[in-house]
Amino acid sequence: MSDATVVPGLGWPTAAGVVASMDATGERRSAIGWPPTDGTIDAAGGPSSNLERERSVNAGERPADVAERAQVRTAAELADFAMSGSLADMDTPIAREAAVALMAVGRRTAPMPEPEQTRVMVVANQKGGVGKTTTTVNLAAALAVSGLRVLVVDLDPQGNASTALGIDHHAEIPSIYDVMVEETPISDVVQKVEEIDGLWCVPATIDLAGAEIELVSMVARESRMRKAMDQHLKSEGVEYDYVFIDCPPSLGLLTVNALVGGDEVLIPIQCEYYALEGLSQLLKNIDMVRAHLNRELAVSTILLTMYDGRTRLAAQVADEVRRHFGDTVLRTAIPRSVRISEAPSYGQTVMTYDAASSGALSYLEAAREIAERGTTDQHGETRDG
Ligand SMILES: Nc1ncnc2c1ncn2[C@@H]1O[C@H](COP(=O)(O)OP(=O)(O)OP(=O)(O)O)[C@@H](O)[C@H]1O
Ligand SMILES: [Mg+2]
Repeated sequence: MSDATVVPGLGWPTAAGVVASMDATGERRSAIGWPPTDGTIDAAGGPSSNLERERSVNAGERPADVAERAQVRTAAELADFAMSGSLADMDTPIAREAAVALMAVGRRTAPMPEPEQTRVMVVANQKGGVGKTTTTVNLAAALAVSGLRVLVVDLDPQGNASTALGIDHHAEIPSIYDVMVEETPISDVVQKVEEIDGLWCVPATIDLAGAEIELVSMVARESRMRKAMDQHLKSEGVEYDYVFIDCPPSLGLLTVNALVGGDEVLIPIQCEYYALEGLSQLLKNIDMVRAHLNRELAVSTILLTMYDGRTRLAAQVADEVRRHFGDTVLRTAIPRSVRISEAPSYGQTVMTYDAASSGALSYLEAAREIAERGTTDQHGETRDG
């Protein structure tokens, strides 16, 4: 992380332990976190630049024309278009058609590259409700519908990832609890996701809530996931391209187990107030795990979630995150989308619930970026070292 000046109100801890409130001139910085002095709210302003206005979708316009005018040809350009707010609201039919047309001129049909070896990605952020589970299941589904083989490990006692994938996870179902506490092989608890070929899930049941405490007194309590995963990935007939581990909103032993068991960390950051709160603690823990338990661990990916292109706040959070984390941040941001939030109640990912929605298209683009970035430089060595 760079030492550049931080914007107050986003949750960055300051040296003095207080959030700075004034800039050099003594003025309040109103945009991020502080209400403006005149009592008005400066968010929800609509497209803020001419470019964005030019690119937004006009009623009655043919999708192909929109695509042409927006000059969207690549994933990066699509990301820009989505970020402009034009795709933020897919409730209008024209925006929806435009998105489909845009993806058609993009590279939607190009196959996603297979990684040289299984990439085990830990989706972590101890802040609650930032989109960890949503990101886990939708990236996994996006990669699977693109022909890759993907395993989702639900490591959150809430079992949200299991629910979203339509996987039965009532108390008696063999689950990640049995793997972590009873040393049951992952192969014995894994379930196939019915709706999507190439997608599997290790469910979490409510039992896992007790595991955090049970693990404390166990041998090698931090490496139980690692051991189980290494064993599973070596077993016959198991050939995943990706494994995603969905962490609970805490930095306890379950999350530590995921960090020790994974190769890469993916941090979803919600484009909202206090987006960066607690992030330095997460990064410190990752450093500690890297120093003592898993030297290969790298924060490879940061994904901006719930991006609302109509608010300045979202753009400011995105700028701030990009300034601090540079290329680790995916070009594609996930827009706030009603379809994304509806999908889990149907036991589905947005990829199957509404494949043409902005949410599905963005997760597909984010997945493509992850796949295309590859891992050769970070993962030259195998998991066995
Ligand atoms: N892009 C989005 N647009 C709209 N709603 C979203 C989006 N992403 C996530 N949500 C909603 O926000 C809520 C929190 O998302 P999610 O459960 O993925 O977060 P989480 O980080 O896994 O939460 P927890 O910390 O409790 O595990 C959910 O209700 C989800 O449906
Ligand atoms: Mg979750």
